[in-house]
Amino acid sequence: MTADFKSMSLAAVDQTVVGWLEQLATQAREAVTHKLTVSTKDHDARNLVTNVDRSNEEWLDQQIRTLDPDAKVVSEEGFGDHPTDMSGDVWFVDPIDGTMNFVHEHTDFAIMVAWYRDGKPKLGWIIDVMAHHIFHGGPEMGVFENDQQLPKQADVDLDQAVFALSGRHLMQADSSYQEVGRSVLAFRVLGSAGITFARILAGQLNGYYAELQPWDFAAGQVMAKTLGLEVTNVDGKPLDMLSSNAVIVTTSSAHREVITLLKS
Ligand code: IPD
Ligand code: CA
Ligand code: CA
Repeated sequence: MTADFKSMSLAAVDQTVVGWLEQLATQAREAVTHKLTVSTKDHDARNLVTNVDRSNEEWLDQQIRTLDPDAKVVSEEGFGDHPTDMSGDVWFVDPIDGTMNFVHEHTDFAIMVAWYRDGKPKLGWIIDVMAHHIFHGGPEMGVFENDQQLPKQADVDLDQAVFALSGRHLMQADSSYQEVGRSVLAFRVLGSAGITFARILAGQLNGYYAELQPWDFAAGQVMAKTLGLEVTNVDGKPLDMLSSNAVIVTTSSAHREVITLLKS
């Protein structure tokens, strides 16, 4: 079984996961308006989880372990493992990203998977469920929106950039988020890290600043870096793949400016 996965082509792994996510997206579109059981997590009325988050994660983690029996899986809702380092094959799963949007807006939510080997990005997948768009790829094969390969991103300065920012940090009057908000051309609050990364990959947004967990940024990071974007913490350092990070994603000029701004 292990030998099978190790000898699979990258394209075959990519298409296998694309198939899983298309299947789950079809089910999520059917469930979105009438089959949701919603509860809250961590005594926080704004932190929602549904039956679909749980069943997607249980199923995806199981598919990954069947495909790659050596895999360690880092996932949000409790079906994963708790690796202490990034050696070997480490997979990340966000079974529904943007659960608040899923429950209340019925759009702008995603399902995300990422695969890293020995800490190096291999492939990432983000499906924008309601738009029927899947973003997938990595450094060895390029990045695709459905079957269309995406170009490298053009560089932009910070004052010409449209950024997504964390609504929670803005609401809490976090000065670093407000400072970035004042410095960009415009900012948006989308409520889904996956949808934000998808818009950045498609060239519709130029940047993102948010506190994110590994399953929120793992897939987006693989593809954003492949398209030449910077993905770092606020010190300009690589993200810690096993804990929460204040994540900056943007083009190189805007990135230099944001890092300088946040240091001052
Ligand atoms: C959340 C969304 C949101 C981000 C939060 C995440 P979830 O993911 O990506 O945009 O600001 O930090 O937790 O909980 O809906 O998977
Ligand atoms: Ca989630
Ligand atoms: Ca998430």
